[in-house]
Amino acid sequence: MVVNLAFLLLLLLFVSSANAKATVSISPKTLNRSGDSVVIKWSGVESPSDLDWLGIYSPPTSPHDHFIGYKLLNASSTWRSGSGSISLPLTNLRSNYSFRIFRWTQSEIDPKHLDHDQNPLPGTKHLLAESEEVSFGSGVGKPEQIHLAFEDGVNGMRVTFVAGDGEERFVRYGERKERLGNSAPARGVRYEREHMCNAPANTTIGWRDPGWIFDAVMKNLNGGVKYYYQVGSDSKGWSEIHSFIARDVYSEETIAFMFGDMGCATPYTTFIRTQDESISTLKWILRDIEALGDKPALVSHIGDISYARGYSWVWDEFFAQIEPIASRVPYHVCIGNHEYDFPAQPWKPDWAA
Ligand SMILES: [Fe+2]
Repeated sequence: MVVNLAFLLLLLLFVSSANAKATVSISPKTLNRSGDSVVIKWSGVESPSDLDWLGIYSPPTSPHDHFIGYKLLNASSTWRSGSGSISLPLTNLRSNYSFRIFRWTQSEIDPKHLDHDQNPLPGTKHLLAESEEVSFGSGVGKPEQIHLAFEDGVNGMRVTFVAGDGEERFVRYGERKERLGNSAPARGVRYEREHMCNAPANTTIGWRDPGWIFDAVMKNLNGGVKYYYQVGSDSKGWSEIHSFIARDVYSEETIAFMFGDMGCATPYTTFIRTQDESISTLKWILRDIEALGDKPALVSHIGDISYARGYSWVWDEFFAQIEPIASRVPYHVCIGNHEYDFPAQPWKPDWAA
């Protein structure tokens, strides 16, 4: 009888450990804007493999192999215990995020399933756990990715931004931060998957809903004067107040930041190479803009802009990353080969033969 009881207990223990499920939780469940971080915690991952990984999904309905990026669980120092956590700043993609943990082992590496750098993409055969969703709450309607550009009139400045819906938006602006007395309506446009020319941009792996892209022109600006502005609407929320120095056509100097090939950085690994160096580039430009004080300046990014290569959320990451400078100085671009050289491109500039 005693033996039987011990056996039963052992059996129960075995059954309960075999049933022990990995879990993954997130905190907070609502973020306010791009750059806010979510902490992802997991536990109960048995016999951890150093290839076990966390998939980042947006929207949460995406198939397993259509993650926007991933992190290996060994990014957490405690991964060998089967528990750990990763803090991840997220960019508002106007759609919720969720996270999935997968088991992946050396023997499952598929030499044909590679990223842009010929590194194997992680396998999705063994799902261990899936998180709840994290949302941007009311922030989905708030303008993000704010960037300035010159327009045809020398006394104007165009502001472009992205929001999750097409309802009316405005720019309001003025010389005093506490009194943005001028207002102009913004035009909202969007593009669809069928407007994309080639894979992966027009396939479910590369396509994500771009939201609405708005632009408005601030007019009758006085040259060399500092203006404050914000974009949005009363019903959907306003952005923070930003400022810029209006173009001064009578100035004897022009200050421009000129560079190419910047790309962007993502806090996760994705299908294509990303550029961590862009973090330093933007940091030093921001420092110099601050040192310029009340002198107007402009950015000329002469091509190879985001290196999104058809993965649309990388553009969101890029515009979120440049916002601290592009909301202060006009940010102009030229096309580089990465903006025109996709296969079957019907148009190529003659200088690009
Ligand atoms: Fe390049």
